[in-house]
Amino acid sequence: MAGASVHGHWSGRLAFMFAAIGSAVGLGNIWRFPYVTGTSGGGAFVLIYIACLALVALPILIAEIAIGRKGQRSAVNSFRDVAKAEGRSELWRYVGWLGVIAAFMLLTFYSVIAGWAMSYFTDTVMGNLTAISESTSAPRFNALLADPLRLAIWHGIFMGITVFIVARGIQGGLEKAVTFMMPALFAILAFLVVYSAINGDFMAGVKFMFAVDFSKITTKVVIAAVGQAFFSLSLASGIMATYGAYLPRDVNIPRAAVIITLADTGVALLAGLAIFPLVFLHGLAPASGPGLIFVTLPLAFADMTGGMIFGGLFFLLLVFAAMTSSISLLEPIVSYLEEHHGWKRARMAMVSGFICWTIGLTTVLSFNVLKGYNPLGMFAQFQGKTIFALTDYTVSNIMLPVGGLLIAIFAGWFVGKKTLSVELDWHDGVLFEIWRLLLRVVAPIALIVVFYNLITS
Ligand code: TRP
Repeated sequence: MAGASVHGHWSGRLAFMFAAIGSAVGLGNIWRFPYVTGTSGGGAFVLIYIACLALVALPILIAEIAIGRKGQRSAVNSFRDVAKAEGRSELWRYVGWLGVIAAFMLLTFYSVIAGWAMSYFTDTVMGNLTAISESTSAPRFNALLADPLRLAIWHGIFMGITVFIVARGIQGGLEKAVTFMMPALFAILAFLVVYSAINGDFMAGVKFMFAVDFSKITTKVVIAAVGQAFFSLSLASGIMATYGAYLPRDVNIPRAAVIITLADTGVALLAGLAIFPLVFLHGLAPASGPGLIFVTLPLAFADMTGGMIFGGLFFLLLVFAAMTSSISLLEPIVSYLEEHHGWKRARMAMVSGFICWTIGLTTVLSFNVLKGYNPLGMFAQFQGKTIFALTDYTVSNIMLPVGGLLIAIFAGWFVGKKTLSVELDWHDGVLFEIWRLLLRVVAPIALIVVFYNLITS
């Protein structure tokens, strides 16, 4: 019996770490981080991003996991139950709701981008990219974007696999794949960094990422950094609370949160260090947008010996990483529908996935037929944003940070200090007090100032 319980705890802790890191590490690190760093001016963005992780995102991540473990339910219910137990309004459950909706909206375009990675995977292993050059790489990518049918099909295949996994409730199996996939992804990225250091313009890349030009710190850059931090850590969607419910009581939450944040940030920085030296070597534009890795990396794979195998492996791992993230985007809505309406999981997964795919077609079209269509272009904040850019902006830069702000206020001001210190097993004082200060004061003020500037700018 004792053996069984030890085993249970181990698998509980590991299952949580696999699921959480699997959710966090994905397109956000390898596709989004480099491209947003590029469009946001480099070093200034990276600095704010890291500050934002440490001062805002990490404290909120700790709070979100703690609420999940305390509530022992899915996100919406955990927020409600913890609020109830603390004698607070049940309206706090809407924080959980906001997250569920944000995750669903995020998946509509996430799956389209994952489709690009699948398309590049097949092209790479079929040898279609071996002769690619500086002058043909971007046109090739643009040809993919110009083809709504191809995009919709890949988007559909990716969504289909996500639905299949969530429908059968076999996330566990995929999440275990994180054990070998994550080290492999890490290794391949590290190799790419070395390759870039030797063959690329490494100093230019490092300088772009880490030389801070303080005059470049604008509201726009700060908002982009806040959004990237929430996106990358899968924060404020309720998924970390949901996974937290499975975490055994004796596991230290702050330590787990630090590990998740370090792993996530490590992957993003490696991706940046692999890509930017190549960007400068090939005279590409760092600010070229969402296509950045798809235009840049195939050039390296075409140049190196064994690039077909190596590139194929890279895109395969990228698709894998995207999959462990996408299931965490579909799971919240499916488990909610299953819990509350008694509807069958499989059917709910299919219905939600299908609706998500359909809405995602607007993202597909925003790269071709509706390229020049800017739905909210009359507002300064949304100027020039296509449907894709608008969805991403609304979810990542507004909904997730607003959710984060509410989590900070809830955990910081409405949940008892005692409850928290017990849940976090943090009795020694100093670190706990620092965390609470960040949660109660620093994070809310930072987020409110950002929103204030957004609204008034
Ligand atoms: N963090 C994932 C990535 O970087 C994306 C993701 C998965 C996510 N689940 C989320 C983002 C929940 C926000 C909320 O690719």
